[in-house]
Amino acid sequence: MSLVENRFRRLRRTPALRALVRETRLSVDDLVLPVFVEEGIDAPVEIASMPGVFRHPEKDLPKVLKRAHKLGLKAFILFGVSHHKDAAGSDSWSDKGLMVRMIKAAKKAVPDAVIISDNCFCEYTTHGHCGVVCDGDVDNDSTLANLQLQAVAAARAGVDMIAPSGMMDGMITAIRQALDAAGFSHLPIMSYSTKFASAFYGPFRDAVDSNFKGTRATYQMDVANGREALAESLQDELEGADILMVKPGMPCLDVLARIRDASAKPLAVYQVSGEYAMIKHAVNAGALNEQAVVMESLLAFRRAGADLVLTYFAEDVARWLAK
Ligand code: PBG
Repeated sequence: MSLVENRFRRLRRTPALRALVRETRLSVDDLVLPVFVEEGIDAPVEIASMPGVFRHPEKDLPKVLKRAHKLGLKAFILFGVSHHKDAAGSDSWSDKGLMVRMIKAAKKAVPDAVIISDNCFCEYTTHGHCGVVCDGDVDNDSTLANLQLQAVAAARAGVDMIAPSGMMDGMITAIRQALDAAGFSHLPIMSYSTKFASAFYGPFRDAVDSNFKGTRATYQMDVANGREALAESLQDELEGADILMVKPGMPCLDVLARIRDASAKPLAVYQVSGEYAMIKHAVNAGALNEQAVVMESLLAFRRAGADLVLTYFAEDVARWLAK
């Protein structure tokens, strides 16, 4: 008689058996690649804290997208590094501004890809905050009005999805109303619905060359709050968000699982700049196996409940998955 009744190892004996009972998988279809574009530069600039990630000159955007598209990537989120900053971030809703130009160039380069705009102001404001500053803090409702202008400008430029990341209250309602009124009721919104005030965004500030010195704690969430994290995402669902998002990723697997249980909407996760930097620097120091660690981190997101993943590793992952 056997000493052990439940032998889990029976299903682990061969690769084919393990594949048969694998619960979660990752496909190139699940990936979104973030792309940084800086106006007024001639050559790509490598981001010091994110080895292997570049700010690209505007003229290179088509080439960068086509290269990634060839690897099988079908979704891109665009971040602009503006040289025309002002207090409100008005370049971001100008018909000749960087956001509009990036979207038009991207749609032309890879017409059948999903082009997503990161809808925020921090890369377009002189102070680096994600909205209009009044009395030392970001004013919610005047920022909403600008967000409406920005979303409609992006829509007119041909964007496929709007992704507001500023954590303003009521941002989904405001954007939905503005889009619908302008004839874009078909355009989906992916909300950065649960976005924490995380130290893991550090390298991103490098990436967008932000001289931001303050805190985003009055609009982004306190990392200590799990119930509120759920409430934030459910509120955006109620306002009509088509896709919910949790950010950052690895520190928030519990939050992903919680939202997955409570919502039937597609759920995204953003593996942010600091997560990329942690893995990349450890790999470069010889401490970690890059492919194994990246794949494990992405599978963990899927296991926790994420459908899609925004990651700076997307091109590498596409290559690995193709083998
Ligand atoms: C803009 C924005 C940020 C990130 C994505 N959109 C920066 C921030 O909120 O401070 C972070 C992305 C990353 O760290 O990779 N609001």
